[in-house]
Amino acid sequence: MVRISDILKKLKQEQEASKGEESKAPPSQQPSKLEKENPGSKEKGMEGEKGGEAAKDHITFIEAMKHNEPEKPSKANIHEIVKKAIPEKGEGQNIYNETIECCKKMAAGYAEDRETEKDMIVDIAGRISDHILLGGQELLSLAAEPYPDEEDFRILDLVDTGIIAGYISSSLNYNKSKLMEVVMTGLFHDVGMFKDFDFVKEARKLTVEELHQMRGHPEKGALYLQGLAAFSEEVIEGVLYHHERINGEGYPQGVSNDDISEYAKIVAIADVYEAMTHKRPHKDKTSSPSDAIKELISFNQVLFNPRVLKALIETVGIYPIGSWVEINSGEICRVLATNEGFPLRPVLSVAFDGNRKRLDEMRTIDLKSKPSLYIKRPVEESELKKQ
Ligand SMILES: [Fe+2]
Repeated sequence: MVRISDILKKLKQEQEASKGEESKAPPSQQPSKLEKENPGSKEKGMEGEKGGEAAKDHITFIEAMKHNEPEKPSKANIHEIVKKAIPEKGEGQNIYNETIECCKKMAAGYAEDRETEKDMIVDIAGRISDHILLGGQELLSLAAEPYPDEEDFRILDLVDTGIIAGYISSSLNYNKSKLMEVVMTGLFHDVGMFKDFDFVKEARKLTVEELHQMRGHPEKGALYLQGLAAFSEEVIEGVLYHHERINGEGYPQGVSNDDISEYAKIVAIADVYEAMTHKRPHKDKTSSPSDAIKELISFNQVLFNPRVLKALIETVGIYPIGSWVEINSGEICRVLATNEGFPLRPVLSVAFDGNRKRLDEMRTIDLKSKPSLYIKRPVEESELKKQ
């Protein structure tokens, strides 16, 4: 078993010994064999090949989820469902906006070698956790929105990853204190990238040297948190290991399976899902939520923990919030909310009729209470722009 305190102690010694030698990357930051063979292929740890076995797992997994579908859906009251799914419009938005400000202060504290106020982080993590545990989905919906142009993508990545990680933890039945810790791990996960990392904001691929530097950000973040002496070892370990992969091909330590903490496994999946579904300066193309889930399933048991991946899918659904689908009536709908336990039967907002004509007023339907309706296929946003 790898001891986190030993790793951090060694890192601290290395950091002090290497002052003035910033350009020399430690061995743990060298590109992996796979990365060397596929330069430019690495995107948020998504290295690896899609094998036939993984594809089989995908099909088996989808089939298994289908068995969870109701034979006779209950006649739930649609208004109650939507009210629960999108509670008190504005409260989630307030929490989201305040989390952005909190992460900006945290990042500035790191960049200026100041201490981050623990109370500020704990307070916002508690409010996010309450929203999630009370069944609110507004934060999940906000985390699926495209980034506003005026915001630093690194800040919104912290916010969205913390929120998504919180929802995954809820699906894993974490109690509030553990859920808050995972949210904090997500909010802190890339804090080590807020000093000397401005190159990541440029619209180009990283150079080899920059890639080496990039691979040091989990260690920098973990050392910063350790220095604050205010967060648990589990949170620090989650930050340190959020780019580790269960097959041992992650970084910075290259640990695998049970040597990676569960907080790190949760934040790893939340981080990758968030990155795949949002733009970055070096890539305009984003995956639809459905495609991101499919791709993550194809990496199941190779890069990511299956139990945690299942929890993500239960959280965002096979058809995640914000994605578009066509139902068997021919209508095109946006996914408004998921129904816990029924990933193939979310709550939808009908936006286009069967003739692809945009509706003046969208109406809401809950597939859980409409047994005659079902989703035929996911729809790409590019397809809608042609309407
Ligand atoms: Fe990271």
